[in-house]
Amino acid sequence: MRLDSLSTLNYRNLAPCTLLFPAGVTGVFGENGAGKTNLLEAAFLALTGLTDVTRLEQLVQQGETEAYVRADLESSGSLSVQEVGLGRGRRQLKVDGVRVRTGDLPRGSAVWIRPEDSELVFGSPSGRRAFLDSLLSRLSARYAEVLSRYERTVSQRNAALRGGEEWAMHVWDESLVRLGTEIMTTRRRALVRLNELAGEANAALGSRKPLTLSLAESTTPEAYAQDLASRRAEELARGSTATGPHRDDLVLTLGDFPASEYASRGEGRTVALALRRAELELLAERFGERPVLLIDDFSAELDPGRRAFLLDLAASVPQAIVTGTERAPGAALTLRAHGGRFTPEVTAEPLPGEPLAEEVRA
Ligand SMILES: Nc1ncnc2c1ncn2[C@@H]1O[C@H](COP(=O)(O)OP(=O)(O)OP(=O)(O)O)[C@@H](O)[C@H]1O
Ligand SMILES: [Mg+2]
Repeated sequence: MRLDSLSTLNYRNLAPCTLLFPAGVTGVFGENGAGKTNLLEAAFLALTGLTDVTRLEQLVQQGETEAYVRADLESSGSLSVQEVGLGRGRRQLKVDGVRVRTGDLPRGSAVWIRPEDSELVFGSPSGRRAFLDSLLSRLSARYAEVLSRYERTVSQRNAALRGGEEWAMHVWDESLVRLGTEIMTTRRRALVRLNELAGEANAALGSRKPLTLSLAESTTPEAYAQDLASRRAEELARGSTATGPHRDDLVLTLGDFPASEYASRGEGRTVALALRRAELELLAERFGERPVLLIDDFSAELDPGRRAFLLDLAASVPQAIVTGTERAPGAALTLRAHGGRFTPEVTAEPLPGEPLAEEVRA
């Protein structure tokens, strides 16, 4: 997968621009607040249609009502144009000029690694569930569909519980068990490979403590219906669904202890890095192409060994964009970020046939 160019308009603090990216590593450096993270966020949105921002208005430049990002990308030898329009809390996606839904964009096109990933380790189970669910949704359109139907069912069932509609519960329970069972089964199956890949990455990161991933499930496919029935009174009193995959956790065990409670900051960042590399490998295995790698703040909280791991990872994919407050070594192109603008610095001779990276202001 290759991002040939990225265009943005009214996206956060970014000046309207089209940036051309060469193969290999593009380093983006600049002071705090220059727009480095915003650039990666815009690239991730244009490549995948995904954002974890809940209020889309946040992405639109203050004082404007609409924003736009566009990626020209190359995948398995063919070119395509992906556009995302943001406005009035909505997101509109187009591929080659035709309106599509998020799931229709190539699902393995990018992986984004950032310092906030540590929250996966130290934060609440919901963040780890979101990591697993978002990865599985990208690996399988079926999982995305079942998950969204399950989540709708939980919220409708919760409303029925709050309304004291005990008589309707058998209908909700039947859908919940059917959809929930499929979610649990898919998670269990995917975890086998995810666990292997994360364990390998953790070892490659030089960690002496082994990393193991496991699911802490609030119920099992076999016991789900019975568990719901036995907690009916409690659920009616609380007005919420007490068991099921929406309550489960992805437990990260480092050595003998859960990383969420015992890992040091740096160990936590290492575990998060191992998860992201596992994500990259899984997407590459599934789609037969290595994603574009977006690395935010490559030096944050990392010792030299782990920084080297990240830079090696960047060098192992066809294309990576690496930001930092200092220059990333070995980049094919270096952009200096300043006030939402990106200016190329010539650091290396271009490869024969490789266009010179340049910036075109709209
Ligand atoms: N909707 C918006 N409109 C205008 N500016 C915004 C908007 N959202 C964020 N910004 C501004 O964009 C600026 C750049 O943010 P960004 O996170 O990209 O910086 P950065 O270069 O990654 O900095 P750091 O090195 O601190 O991580 C910030 O000053 C922020 O206030
Ligand atoms: Mg940043």
